[in-house]
Amino acid sequence: MRKPIIAGNWKMFKTEAEAVDFVKKVKPLVKDVKDKTMIICPTFPALSKTADELQGSNVALGAQNIFWEDEGAFTGEISGPMLKAVGCTYVIIGHSERRQYFGETDETVNKRIRAALKHKLSPIVCVGERLEERESGSTFKVVETQIRGAFKDIDEAHWDNIIIAYEPVWAIGTGKTATPDQAQEVHKFIRGLLPKSVAEKTRILYGGSVKPNNVKDLMAQPDIDGGLVGGASLKPDSFSQLAMF
Ligand code: PGA
Repeated sequence: MRKPIIAGNWKMFKTEAEAVDFVKKVKPLVKDVKDKTMIICPTFPALSKTADELQGSNVALGAQNIFWEDEGAFTGEISGPMLKAVGCTYVIIGHSERRQYFGETDETVNKRIRAALKHKLSPIVCVGERLEERESGSTFKVVETQIRGAFKDIDEAHWDNIIIAYEPVWAIGTGKTATPDQAQEVHKFIRGLLPKSVAEKTRILYGGSVKPNNVKDLMAQPDIDGGLVGGASLKPDSFSQLAMF
């Protein structure tokens, strides 16, 4: 049985004070949710205070990126030991915005996954096709290349901690959700690419304009195991509704 995940990707939103305010408000709303893993991923400067505020709650903390070295002369980067020390247990890796604006490649995604696993952080690894790729019929090819590149030579022993997020780029922040059938088709395909011994237990999240009003239909699909949510994760009431599908 794969326990569903609702993960909030806050992107570059919320100051430390705003993040703490969100947590104060959301905690009572989701306190009885036991059948899902809930995660929020604030910006780096908000992690520490958010972690304090989340103490004793059923919501876990994640970061939005990780560098592959533990320390050193890498101005502007943040390492696994630092994320671990601040209280993170998850980290988003290879989000399409990082691929698009910051030169992230399948090779750097692979290095970041290794770093996360080394420090016992669960990576939430994002893949997904762009609009022109979908329109030209190359969705499966693109996703397969991303999956094979991301997980190249990753030991099967680590797979318990790996989470995948399928996020069609054309659905992110656009209000254009993939239909449940469109998403299911790709989720099933991704599961088929995973090593046999781990495929059935790996959670594959859908991301791209997930909202309280469409979450139920998406999550009803057999290979969709939760959501990676941007916009709708920013308000305590909509986040809590997402966690109660
Ligand atoms: P969205 O973002 O829910 O605002 O479409 C999803 C994501 O980028 O992870």
